[in-house]
Amino acid sequence: MIYYYISKINKNTFSVQSTLKPRPGRNNFTIIVTGGCGFIGSHTSQRLLLMGHRVIVIDNLYHDSVYPLEWKLINKSILEKTFMDHHQQNGCSFSFYQEDVSNEKIITDIFKREQPDIVCHLAARAGVRPSIDVSTSIHLHMYFFYGSHELQILL
Ligand SMILES: NC(=O)c1ccc[n+]([C@@H]2O[C@H](COP(=O)([O-])OP(=O)(O)OC[C@H]3O[C@@H](n4cnc5c(N)ncnc54)[C@H](O)[C@@H]3O)[C@@H](O)[C@H]2O)c1
Repeated sequence: MIYYYISKINKNTFSVQSTLKPRPGRNNFTIIVTGGCGFIGSHTSQRLLLMGHRVIVIDNLYHDSVYPLEWKLINKSILEKTFMDHHQQNGCSFSFYQEDVSNEKIITDIFKREQPDIVCHLAARAGVRPSIDVSTSIHLHMYFFYGSHELQILL
């Protein structure tokens, strides 16, 4: 069962407003953030780490002129540092996969392995020109079912 869900973000709050409870034996969520090295995704991922969640970033580190690769690598190192600085205190964790979200087999394998509670899908070719280039289209198909646990997708 897939639930579409809208999060509330403003200057002072970032809340996953949900009746979803962590799995038995856990006090945090497993959250996949696609495009987690980009502008929006990296800030989202950092905030989730500071909230103590288990954050899994999937990003192909696509090198485009809108957001340079160097910036994405800096964002990734900031996430690694945030994890290092806070995991003992709040139990957060951080994993990174350099993969393309349109690769169905690899993405399915990651989802089976990581068993996310929530997906925050921010991978994109941002900008008007790249987004209308047919060669850069992202076709995303996600079918995930496991147990009775709800999977939520933030779009
Ligand atoms: N930046 C803004 O001000 C803004 C405002 C409103 C909405 N948005 C939306 O938020 C989303 C993210 O925007 P952004 O500014 O963070 O873009 P961004 O380019 O900074 O980040 C996108 C990330 O997705 C990754 N990516 C691209 N294609 C991928 C693929 N096939 N597989 C895996 N990763 C891939 C890129 O490497 C990049 O790190 C977009 O949908 C954008 O339209 C952005």
